Amino acid sequence: MSLSLADLAVEVLTTADGRAKCALGRRHAATWFAARAAGTPLPVGQASPPLRPARPDRPELLPPREVPRRRPGSPQGRIALLHALAHIELNAVDLHWDIIARFTHHPMPPGFYDDWVKAADEEAKHFNLICDVLESLGSHYGALPAHAGMWRAAEDTASDLKGRLAVVPMVLEARGLDVTPGMIDIFRKAPDPAAVAALETIYAEEVGHVAYGSKWFNWLCGRDGEDPKDVFHALVRHYFHGALKPPFNEEKRAEAGLPPDFYWPLAEAESDSPR
Ligand SMILES: [Fe+2]
Ligand SMILES: [Fe+2]
Repeated sequence: MSLSLADLAVEVLTTADGRAKCALGRRHAATWFAARAAGTPLPVGQASPPLRPARPDRPELLPPREVPRRRPGSPQGRIALLHALAHIELNAVDLHWDIIARFTHHPMPPGFYDDWVKAADEEAKHFNLICDVLESLGSHYGALPAHAGMWRAAEDTASDLKGRLAVVPMVLEARGLDVTPGMIDIFRKAPDPAAVAALETIYAEEVGHVAYGSKWFNWLCGRDGEDPKDVFHALVRHYFHGALKPPFNEEKRAEAGLPPDFYWPLAEAESDSPR
């Protein structure tokens, strides 16, 4: 009996080592797309994803306030920034496989699965790219402590597909579009051309992930006869802890199908900003 897509997703989620998780995910993505292209798609199936994905023993996970901050102007600071990004990418691999496995009781068109398998495959590529840069700098993923709170958004929205789409791709990944150009500048000034190239790949591909989020969020709201903007505001206020932080990358958010009237009403006033 061949495995279903949900089974493949759970295999990735229950693999602890970062590089191994990514290698398995990329193989499973290739299997899914080869079967789709051959006209013999894998069944989506049903599985029981773990509440929390398996992760390596290292990095040590600390509450956000205890993760040491370093200035990005120094080589050590740039390593810390890349390490934090590798952690985000690994979390994103699990987030995308989790949305595939967790919501199979919602009947969705096959394109929904195509989009998240592609996004999961790209996140694995991103993790590998950032790990390669870290290793070229004499460090590695696991060498520094990392943020313990990253999976919280997934747990909070484990039984709410619209909530998951609102908070993960449309808030968290959209935030990535806001901050990545500043990171690219840091590595351009270093200069670190390998890091710049990796970040430019990530920046280009993340627009697609936000777009998948907004596409399927709008699709679900449309199917249910709801106003997507109102639902988005209600879900983000319910599940996301804190205000959205300007400045926003309005151009890339627009490219990803995220209009200003979705995010501006959820923003903290700039004068209230602690920074
Ligand atoms: Fe990514
Ligand atoms: Fe992403």
